[in-house]
Amino acid sequence: MAQLIGGLATSHIPAIGGAIHRGAQNEPYWKPFFDGFPPIHQWLGKVKPDVVVVFYNDHGLNFFLDKMPTFAVGAAATYSNADEGWGIPTLPPIPGCPELSWHIINQLIAKEFDIVTCQEMLVDHACTLPLKLFWPEHEVAPVQIVPIDINTVQFPLPTAKRVYKLGKAVGEAIQSWDSDKRVAVMATGGLSHQLEGERAGFINKKFDLQFLDSMETNPEWATQFSDLELVEKAGTQGVELLMWLAMRAALTAGGSGVRKVHSNYHIPISNTATGVLALETV
Ligand code: DHB
Ligand code: FE
Repeated sequence: MAQLIGGLATSHIPAIGGAIHRGAQNEPYWKPFFDGFPPIHQWLGKVKPDVVVVFYNDHGLNFFLDKMPTFAVGAAATYSNADEGWGIPTLPPIPGCPELSWHIINQLIAKEFDIVTCQEMLVDHACTLPLKLFWPEHEVAPVQIVPIDINTVQFPLPTAKRVYKLGKAVGEAIQSWDSDKRVAVMATGGLSHQLEGERAGFINKKFDLQFLDSMETNPEWATQFSDLELVEKAGTQGVELLMWLAMRAALTAGGSGVRKVHSNYHIPISNTATGVLALETV
């Protein structure tokens, strides 16, 4: 059976793409953010996942407000990247893993998740920047991906409880995949941020640190909150932390525990409190 080796999570602010392009990683503004990654690079060099299941939110590139699935699973052989308006360099097509995609899709449908299946899927900065951050030496990360889009853009959003159940079901699907591949799960987005309106620039360090701690010690902690409560606590875009919750729930599959490999928290990049995390299943 496939091995679920661990989980990764990072913020996905578009400006990171510009910083990588300019080679600005050591500038004072960027260094505290990029310094969060080398211990995780070392770990990835050791555990070498073959496939990464990426929980991310599409920001209007593949789905728009007229058609907004709650959960959408990619089932393509490759995923094209395009720029949805940030002006950041695009990546060449990213290889998919249709075998795992279809296994996850079949398992999710059997467990009564009414997902959208995408045999073509454009992926945006939320999918590509984390690949650049975790595998900086490679133009395209040396992994196959299965992107899973969770709507955190247009209300009504899925509840934290539902996202947790989805993540757990994805973890169980990975563990029941008849393959010798090593699989990691990844979350992108968060932590607290709000880009628009009266509370633009809102950041909640206390909540973020509690949430980060819960990833290690109490994975279901955030499921106590409604989506409106999460918006109140983390900001309108801070609800992207639902991706982190799905990733963490996947790691509970089969009764696994986790060991923290590394984490980092830094305020601000753009209007966002940034978080980075790697967890290894034990
Ligand atoms: C920013 C953050 C995001 O999560 C995003 O998708 C776009 C922009 C920002 O902080 O600039
Ligand atoms: Fe975002």
